[in-house]
Amino acid sequence: MRKPVIVGNWKMNLGPKEAKNLLTEVKALDLDNSVEYGFCVPSIDLLVAKEVLEGTNINYGAENMYFEESGAFTGEISPAMLTEVKATYVIIGHSERRQYFKEDNELINKKVISALEHGLTPILCVGETLEEREANKEEEVVKEEVVKGFEGIKEADKVIIAYEPIWAIGTGKTASAEDADSMCAYIRKLIEELYGKESAEKIRIQYGGSMKPSNVKELLAKENIDGGLIGGASLKASDFEQLVNFKK
Ligand code: PGA
Repeated sequence: MRKPVIVGNWKMNLGPKEAKNLLTEVKALDLDNSVEYGFCVPSIDLLVAKEVLEGTNINYGAENMYFEESGAFTGEISPAMLTEVKATYVIIGHSERRQYFKEDNELINKKVISALEHGLTPILCVGETLEEREANKEEEVVKEEVVKGFEGIKEADKVIIAYEPIWAIGTGKTASAEDADSMCAYIRKLIEELYGKESAEKIRIQYGGSMKPSNVKELLAKENIDGGLIGGASLKASDFEQLVNFKK
């Protein structure tokens, strides 16, 4: 049985003061501990997250990192810095990183390898654009992102994959539960081809793209969807509570 995993992605929202308020609010909630949950936050909020959440069941992590240990990489944060603040997750290859910051599969692969080497859980994002879907290329695109993203990685199931169709991110449009499930099933099949059945059964695949309290139950009822990577709805404690408590 795969443990569902619900992770907020704040993106470039909430400075330290607002972060502290929201995390303190979330900490007081009665959240279902048969679900794994947490927040990926702007790096400037990581120390606040540590201060508020260390020792609780609420995990936290970063939205990006560089793959090198340290050095002359102005503006970047390293995996060693993330382990120092006891981060659990790091989002790698979010479509916004791919699109606006020109991250390619090769760089993303290096980051996934580096995160694993440091004991972090990478959340590797994959997904197609609207044009690619309309041209029936979603499987081709996602296959390339998965195959290249996992190159050289031995233990696939230490990675969480987030399937995020780009046209559903922040747009209010959700993929239908059937379409999301069939893409997550396709990704699981790719992992089976690369790593065998056991890894494919263990690896957790999230759906991301306008997941919210009103659609979480339907999406997570699907066989191949093991959780969510949540942008907008992770910015409000009451929404996050309903997402984590989707079984109730
Ligand atoms: P959204 O973002 O929930 O606001 O659509 C999801 C994501 O980009 O991870």
